[in-house]
Formats: sequence, C-alpha cells, structure tokens
Amino acid sequence: MPHRLPMLSLGNAFGEGDLRDFDRRVRNNLPGEEIEYVVELKIDGLAISLWYENGLFVRGTTRGDGEFGEDITTNLRTVKAIPLRIAREIPFLEVRGEAYMSKEAFVKLNQVREETGEQLFANPRNAAAGSLRQLDPKVTASRNLSVYMYGLGYMEGLSVTGHAQGLALLKELGLRVNQQHKVCKDIDEVIEYCQRWQGQRFELPYAIDGLVIKVNSLDQQQRLGATIKSPRWAIAFKFPAEQAITTIKDIIIRVGRTGVLTPTAILEPVQLAGTTVSKATLHNQDIITQKDIRIGDKALVQKAGDIIPEVVQVFPEQREGNEVTFSMPEICPECASPVVREEGQVAHRCTNEYCPAISREGIIHFVSRNAMDIVGLGESIVTQLIRAELVKDPSDLYHLKYEDLIRLERMGARSSQNLLDAIESSKGNSLAQLLFGLGIRHVGERAAKILAQQFGSMQRLMDAEQEDLTIIPEIGPKIAESVVDYFSRQENRS
Ligand code: IVH
Repeated sequence: MPHRLPMLSLGNAFGEGDLRDFDRRVRNNLPGEEIEYVVELKIDGLAISLWYENGLFVRGTTRGDGEFGEDITTNLRTVKAIPLRIAREIPFLEVRGEAYMSKEAFVKLNQVREETGEQLFANPRNAAAGSLRQLDPKVTASRNLSVYMYGLGYMEGLSVTGHAQGLALLKELGLRVNQQHKVCKDIDEVIEYCQRWQGQRFELPYAIDGLVIKVNSLDQQQRLGATIKSPRWAIAFKFPAEQAITTIKDIIIRVGRTGVLTPTAILEPVQLAGTTVSKATLHNQDIITQKDIRIGDKALVQKAGDIIPEVVQVFPEQREGNEVTFSMPEICPECASPVVREEGQVAHRCTNEYCPAISREGIIHFVSRNAMDIVGLGESIVTQLIRAELVKDPSDLYHLKYEDLIRLERMGARSSQNLLDAIESSKGNSLAQLLFGLGIRHVGERAAKILAQQFGSMQRLMDAEQEDLTIIPEIGPKIAESVVDYFSRQENRS
C-alpha cells in the first residue's frame, strides 16, 4: 500500500553534543527566527499509519520501507486503543503513531510461550510487530496491544499551525496521545527534559528507547524540509544501551506450572537499568548451546526491553579453564522423574504430572494478584503447606484451619488469622479470576474473562463441548481443546 506522504525515519543524537549540533543546524537554516521544540517519548514499538475518511477508520498500515507499507487494517481493528470513529467527520485524515506492547503484557506473553515451548520474543517491540503481522486477527486481539499517536500525515479539511496544537487536536478527536511531552523554548530545556527521562524511563509501564525532538512550527518544518531519509526538523535522542558485565556463578533449574524446566543463571549482583540484578533467564538448552554459556563465564547482561535480565554473550577469551559446561538434567530436580524434550519443541518437561513443583507453582499462580489475589501466601508458606501435606491443590486452601497455619515457620497469630481472612474473602472473587487462577493451559486473563462472560457459571462451562467454545469470537481451537480436556478429568471437576 503506497503512503500518501512518505513515512520518514529520524536521524540520531547520542548525547548533549549531538543535540546542540542539531539545534545549530536548525538555527542556521532559519536565521534570526524564534524556535520552539516539542519533545516526546520515543515509544519502542512499530510505526503505523491510520486513515480516517469522514471520521471512520478505513485503513491501517505499517511503515514498511517508508514509501509502501503493509495493510494491517483487520488486525488494527482489534486494538481497543484505536477508535473506529473519531469525534469529527473530517473528509480525510491520516494520523501516525506507534503500536506497542506494555512491559507487563510482554512479560506475560513470554511466560506463556516459555511454558508452551514456543519461541520467545526478544523485546516488546518484536512482540508488537509479531502480533500485528498475524494472519489471524484473533491472535492480534489476544495480545493486549496499544497505541500512541504522535503526528498528522496527509489531511483535507483541517488547518493546524503547530505540532503541539496537532497533538491536542488528535486527543480531542479521541485518539490516544502520550501526555508526557513538553514544549521547550530552547535547546537547554530540551536537554534537561531528555536527561530527566534517561533516569526515569524505567518507571514507565512501556519501553521507550529515547525521545524525539521536533520543531513546533509546521511552517518552519516545511521550510527546513527533509533529506532523502529523515526530516531536518526532527531528531531522535537515543539512550545508551543499559548493559553490564558480570560473572555467572551458577545455573539452576526452575520447574514451572506446566512442568517446563527453565535454566536460570545466578549472577554476581550487578546494577542494571535501575535495579540490582542477580539472576538472568537462559530460556532453554538451545540458547545455552548457541551462546556457549558456561558456569564461571564472564557475561554481558542486559534487560530485554528494559525488563527481564538476559545474557547477551559470554567472553570465551577470558576463560581460566575451570568453567563448567551445562546440560539439562535427565531427571527432574524436584521429583526425580524422567525429563523429556518433545519433538519440535525447545522446552524440556518433567513427565510427572503430580510433580510437587507443578502443584506448588499452580498454587502460587492461583493466589497471585490477577487471579484469586490471596495476600500473605508466598512461596515459602506454599512450600511448607505442601511438605506438611496440608495442601496439594488450590481447593485444599479452603479447608485450612488456624491450627494448621500457626504451626508453620514464621507464622504468628496475627498473620495466620489474616491469611484465613484473605482466603475467605477470595470466595467473593469473580468467575473470571477463578478461571484464570485454575491455570488451564492457554487460558490467560483475557480468555478467562471472555469465557466467564459467555458461560456465566462454572457448571455451564464444565458442561460445554468443544463446538460451544469455538463459536465464541477470540476463542480459538487451542483454548477450546484445552478447556474441554481440563474439565474431562474428574479431579479437576471436583
Ligand atoms: S516522529 C518524521 N515521534 O521512531 C518523523 N517517531 O526512527 C517521524 N517513534 O519510525 C517519526 N515514538 O516508529 C516520532 N514520538 C515519536 C515516536 C516516533 C516512536 C518511532 C517511529 C519512527 C522511529 C523513528
């Protein structure tokens, strides 16, 4: 699909000096004129263009090569943050912005993929791009994407003189605009704002990879023009990558809720992107082999999309000879049952469906915040309850007595009572929370909400057949099969 106006990319500034050079070039081209800049967050996602005709959303594309983009209208229609109708019937309006995935949605998506043995996304940007380039819009819909619109493209029937005014107009029309932007009267203010965000960016719920500085006046923008690749009136201030070098002290295995074994590197603690990092996920054996990661290695670590610490590479040339290669255990470290790697999958799994790790992780998931939200039931208490054979699945929580709890380590009278109260009050939670908490494979928060809405009661869902499920928009065959399979087991039904 051709763009009406090319979608350019931006030149980069890597520090204060580059920003001052940019400002000098702008002022040399506009001698004697007052210049205002607008500084915005540079959202780390995928550039999109949306067309509205007479107020209706008619087409959405990727940036592509800047001249031609890919038509992703059907997928973009599933993104709730994109209005299908804007507040005014403007004859033609093109708006540009960034589609992205929040840090939280990215972490959750990768968790599910890790458990199902699917390839992980390296960062939220790849996850957003992968989610929009889907053949099945249901998949896109399930991915919790959002957008921030940051500019006007081609338009008819509107007149705007400044960029900041354009942003205000977009907002008025009902489009999602990031409120973290600032009009600056000179480059010193721009630099100060950039430096502020460099330190604060980790607090944002989405990833940014810098800021974008734009000349505010559209007339000045026009007169400055563009080179082949990028406009002369804007530049991207890029943050330095947050990486650090440390030592891999050990590699341990964690058995997850679905029995997948995940190797984790234990690191010499190091400061990274705002926190102290002492662990990094190694995902699976293939990644360890590919990167030739050994215990004792010096490693370069970074946070994927500023969130999950990972090992970028190790330094074989710095080995001293006592480094140890790692391979996945053949028996489960929790229950000693055989571990298998299924054909075509990257994940290793424990073959014991009653592995204590699986029930422990299942209970931890059940009580977690977005599920049954039972405060006060952390990992150590869950482990103790399982060891004492007081609990083997979530339903046992509801039979716990004060006498059971008070005997546990680090449980006093008050915390025992509080926990009992929290368990009691969780009975008032929604069906969706309960369904999500059960940890049925492929039933994430969104699917749980949809199922709860459609069926209204656990009994009706338990009695549903595969066809009753697949006719629901957004419920695909994988979810349907998994739900039916779950409820076909007597122990789950009871
Ligand atoms: S303005 C001609 N503003 O960064 C100006 N871009 O390398 C075009 N981006 O492809 C872009 N946040 O996907 C602009 N607030 C923002 C942005 C932004 C993210 C992305 C955009 C573009 C890339 C530029």
